[in-house]
Amino acid sequence: MQHLRLGVNIDHVATVRNARGSAYPDPVRAAKLAEEAGADGITAHLREDRRHITDDDIERLVAALTVPLNFEMAATDEMQRIALRHRPHAVCIVPEKREERTTEGGLEVAREENRLAHFIAPLAEAGCRVSIFIAADAAQIEAAARIGAAVVELHTGAYCDFHAEEKFAERDAELARLREMSAFAHSLGLEVHAGHGLTYDTVAPVAAFPEVRELNIGHFLIGEAIFTGLKPAIAEMRRLMDAARAGT
Ligand code: PXP
Repeated sequence: MQHLRLGVNIDHVATVRNARGSAYPDPVRAAKLAEEAGADGITAHLREDRRHITDDDIERLVAALTVPLNFEMAATDEMQRIALRHRPHAVCIVPEKREERTTEGGLEVAREENRLAHFIAPLAEAGCRVSIFIAADAAQIEAAARIGAAVVELHTGAYCDFHAEEKFAERDAELARLREMSAFAHSLGLEVHAGHGLTYDTVAPVAAFPEVRELNIGHFLIGEAIFTGLKPAIAEMRRLMDAARAGT
């Protein structure tokens, strides 16, 4: 099976920094450590309200990283301008609501097909791999393929929430849906990524889907780093992903 890439999301290093308005902890330092620990990419979400990652963080990440940057952003003109200035390896389009604590659902592509097709075209022309963050839903996947996205990232949040709430029947149904929709997206020629809410306890079944090429994981790893350090936390996630991939 192909190598499963691990994208480490460093947003919440910036959340801790911003809690005190200080210069530390520095998300760029975390990103460099993540690289050393074997991350295949770094993900950062520049939110409209700049609640964690800032414009300056993005500048510094672009300058410092040797692995690809996956720039997460809402489909706004401001973010498009920023992405076109930096031309990151990948741009992941996510829905964004100011009042939400985190990215709660997938993007509504099917109802916004025309606008999104026009929105992503210049990004793709600038050489960015455009990824669309969506629920594991056939209509959304078909729409993502129609608008010319290269990648879909399937939202694993509901699966992880059901696991945490010990609703195992619902969790397993969601996992089955993710598996089926990974295969469906792949069959349409889309590269398949997955992420949101993944932990040591929930990563293995998703890592085992043969069509999934990349997982993006942040909040759990940054939290775990408090106890074990960032590099060991990433190394353990990498080990669990590789073991699941190898079927061991
Ligand atoms: N993928 C996308 C598109 C996201 O928006 C996020 C959260 O910013 C993640 C992955 C990572 O989620 P988590 O921080 O819960 O691991």
